[in-house]
Amino acid sequence: NGSTAAGGKSRDILEKMDETGKNCVIFYGSQTGTAEDYASRLAKEGSQRFGLKTMVADLEEYDYENLDKFPDDKVAFFVLATYGEGEPTDNAVEFHQFITGEDVTFEGGASADEQPLSSLKYVTFGLGNNTYEHYNAMVRIIDESLTKLGAKRIGPAGMGDDGAGTMEEDFLAWKEEMWPALVQALGLEEREATYEPIFSVTEDSALSPEDEAVYLGEPTKTHLEGSPKGPYSAHNPFIARIAESRELFTVKDRNCLHLEVDLAGSNLSYETGDHVAVWPTNPGLEVDRFLCVFGLEEKRHSVIQIKGIDVTAKVPIPTPTTYDAAVRYYLEICGPVSRQFLSSLAPFAPDETAKAELVRLGNDKDYFHEKVSAQCFNVAQFLETLSSKPFSAVPFSFLIEGIHKLQPRYYSISSSSLVQKNKVSITAVVESVRLPGASHVVKGVTTNYLLALKQKQNGDPAPDPHGLTYSITGPRNKYDGIHVPVHIRHSNFKLPSDPSRPVIMVGPGTGAAPFRGFIQERAALAARGEKVGPTVLFFGCRKREEDFIYQDEWKVFGEQLGDSLKVITAFSRETDQKVYVQHRLREHASLVSYLLLQKANFYVCGDAARMARDVNAVLGQILADQRGLPAEKGEELVKQMRNNGTYQEDVWS
Ligand code: 2AM
Repeated sequence: NGSTAAGGKSRDILEKMDETGKNCVIFYGSQTGTAEDYASRLAKEGSQRFGLKTMVADLEEYDYENLDKFPDDKVAFFVLATYGEGEPTDNAVEFHQFITGEDVTFEGGASADEQPLSSLKYVTFGLGNNTYEHYNAMVRIIDESLTKLGAKRIGPAGMGDDGAGTMEEDFLAWKEEMWPALVQALGLEEREATYEPIFSVTEDSALSPEDEAVYLGEPTKTHLEGSPKGPYSAHNPFIARIAESRELFTVKDRNCLHLEVDLAGSNLSYETGDHVAVWPTNPGLEVDRFLCVFGLEEKRHSVIQIKGIDVTAKVPIPTPTTYDAAVRYYLEICGPVSRQFLSSLAPFAPDETAKAELVRLGNDKDYFHEKVSAQCFNVAQFLETLSSKPFSAVPFSFLIEGIHKLQPRYYSISSSSLVQKNKVSITAVVESVRLPGASHVVKGVTTNYLLALKQKQNGDPAPDPHGLTYSITGPRNKYDGIHVPVHIRHSNFKLPSDPSRPVIMVGPGTGAAPFRGFIQERAALAARGEKVGPTVLFFGCRKREEDFIYQDEWKVFGEQLGDSLKVITAFSRETDQKVYVQHRLREHASLVSYLLLQKANFYVCGDAARMARDVNAVLGQILADQRGLPAEKGEELVKQMRNNGTYQEDVWS
């Protein structure tokens, strides 16, 4: 019995747990991989500290109708990211629909109000972002639904806040309460944690990196075999040609890139306002550092085979591969290092001083913040400061288990699909940031990778101003520096279908990206003779002469759109007063209010934490002032606009 998925795999979680001897399943709803990583960490800790028999499970791969038969000596975890405007992640859509459904029924036939899930013990943690309207909506909703159905939550429903940058510490704090509660509920015993690998990593001397079976950056098997096939997706990127790349401006350490990525032949389609995902490569400098710190430098090109020791363990990166390729293409080695991961390296430290330091960092949150987070160290950069000896005792499996998989990065597409159906534009500022008090500069992995691609493609004479060497000549010449793996993610950030409706767009800096697409589209519609309504862009940057991107294009589009296009600028560093887009909005309060009465859509793109919040607040005040309403009423009107889709955000933190 039990239903089976296309691949013949059972979708029956109880059967799977029985077969594999598990008493703890950790479901995840993950969009970018973070929730999945947290799930893996919980699985590991559960088994090593408490002797639980754990497995990690993708919510999408199981059915939930038999959750009413979940035995009460077992436990299910739900690690759930909230996505976009309070939505479930793609892989959690079905589960969310099922469990919150009004007439949800289970195999046993009991109805929702008969508490069908009374034998289910569960633990839950949510990943959210407090700068968004529906903070951690998923964990709240699922927790409420499970409780209503009679399931018993163990420990608090945890909530991590990415907006405040406290996700990791929120997670650690939540675990401190959760584990004791679970120990009690299941009668577990804590024991001395020892490292038990989930994967075996063996060097395979029969293979060399020249062998065609060895992964050297290819994302999937069909790519390895040289015959990638669609559909292209978040699991299977298209290796796209970069048709054109140029710099919109260059000032000291800041470059702004404009790239045209060719989708021809991929069958990928996009709509104006969608996102394009770019699969990056790590910079050579950091790859070298990492291999050096872990004593892998000399054998970097040895071929390794990675296998799950347990049948439920999914090998997270393609295998066979080499140490070098694993680190270069598949692991997020430049990300911020977590306190738990660092302290878990203590048993493998090359000397007593380094070991003591790692233990102290694990126990002292403030010390960790001062020494590691505030300095923005990645793992190898920090370990380098601890000892001159390599950390050769750290098993490679430990690194694969503890370091996130390298994730694609999403960019708001800056072209119109009506104008260029098969080509997406990317607008990106190349980032190198030195935080106050930090000892070194942090370089954006993907933006610098894009810059390197641009330089390679154009044969720029002085490549790599940021001192990063990318091996984009790549293995077997597939990523030759003018190709980049991409996929498309659809969004709800859309122009009104009726072009005569006015639009107000607020997009400082690269927040202007999707609006270039919007304006390009409306200009094309106007050129076809369609009636296009007022099109107002509030754009902000530092100085007119420095970083005013697409300045010339607005003029060209203006010729097609005539008076209906208005670009209102805010230059923040031209005078001794900061002038921001929200100040300009206020100055144009009557226009804004008037257009909203004419059913304008209002869009915001860019920084979530400060800019988007301020714009939201200012719009509320404008509406209140202009219409003679109390302040709360203005705020409420903005809320209503969000709910009915006339206030849309595409923001990032
Ligand atoms: P600043 O860097 O001079 O402070 C694009 O990055 C533009 O957005 C810049 O002019 C930047 O100004 C501005 N900016 C910075 N913080 C902002 C905020 N809270 N609201 C609106 N614009 C902001």
